[in-house]
Amino acid sequence: MDTKKARRIKIAGTGMYVPEKVLTNKDLEKMVDTSDEWITTRTGIKERRITAPDETTADMAVLAGQRAVKDAGLKIKDIDLIIVATSTPDTIFPSTATWVQKGLKADHVPAFDLSAGCTGFLYGMIVAEGLIQSGVSQRILFIGAECLTKITNWKDRNTCVLFGDGAAGAVLEKSDDESGILSSYWKADGKLGELLIMPGGGVMKPASHKTVEQDLHYLHMKGNEVFKHAVKRMGEAALMALKKAGIKREDIDYLIPHQANIRIIQATGRRLKLPEEKVFSNIHKYGNMSVATIPVGLHELKESGKLKKGRDIVMVAFGAGFTWAAVVYKW
Ligand code: ACO
Repeated sequence: MDTKKARRIKIAGTGMYVPEKVLTNKDLEKMVDTSDEWITTRTGIKERRITAPDETTADMAVLAGQRAVKDAGLKIKDIDLIIVATSTPDTIFPSTATWVQKGLKADHVPAFDLSAGCTGFLYGMIVAEGLIQSGVSQRILFIGAECLTKITNWKDRNTCVLFGDGAAGAVLEKSDDESGILSSYWKADGKLGELLIMPGGGVMKPASHKTVEQDLHYLHMKGNEVFKHAVKRMGEAALMALKKAGIKREDIDYLIPHQANIRIIQATGRRLKLPEEKVFSNIHKYGNMSVATIPVGLHELKESGKLKKGRDIVMVAFGAGFTWAAVVYKW
């Protein structure tokens, strides 16, 4: 889409929610054969948030959504579409977005889920941009929410130290000035889907005693393989989106990368030749919240007061699918 001619699509408000319960690396030392030292040096994570037993993805999304709408100075009645990006839906169907619509008492709007793993927030921004530019929607509440700790195998030290729960949302609408989405780039490679997968519970391997005995209802990941692809693809996506926007990498004010591993974050920063202070990270506090990491990062950067008007930011993510994407945005 040629965003030079059309009015840009901007973020009018943001909001986030993370559960109260904190699980530290020290807590994990008591659960599996691991150490604070290993987790910190290999991943950058110190602690993560965990949902209460009866707390769901939709519960978190409702709170994040309410906060985003309030931050935009709006009421729920002003929204005309709800999209929820998640890989941990409350139910396979109906969609998490419809549970969120119920929770927000937003009977007047359509609602649907978007599934693109950790890249979901950027895929969703691109979809929302298209819907608003084409006139289908005017003001979209778009939420990334993830409850990975409920599909985590707490006996598998390779994965259980990595993930946390959380949600964040944004209200998207037409911009009145230069602020908004400048460019985007998105890709997928379904041939590599099995490297990061929850194999059971879908129609490929319907839930049964056997699938549960085989732990197929948990997240499975070939961490090393995913790592290599993530480093390569996140750098590529950011550079492609910057090229489309006509912005040089030295002119970027902030990079908000998906928070999966501090070493992936730093490698992406190095690929863009950015100084450390321009590369956002909060992975030490939350771990990998999948689709929620970028909107939570965006919200926290905004709340810190560092995101002044006119600043150019790049958001970049990689996740299950595989999927990867980048969005260049003028604040
Ligand atoms: N504590 C102690 N030792 C551990 C732990 C742990 N928690 N986990 C693994 N190890 C051990 C392994 O068993 C292995 O031991 P061995 O050499 O005796 O076999 C050793 O540490 C090294 O294991 P690697 O898997 O090679 O470790 P690596 O440095 O690759 O780190 C990690 C693993 C953190 C998973 C990393 O590969 C990673 O971050 N991968 C990418 C994750 C990612 O980007 N995911 C994408 C999005 S996630 C989503 O979409 C939901």
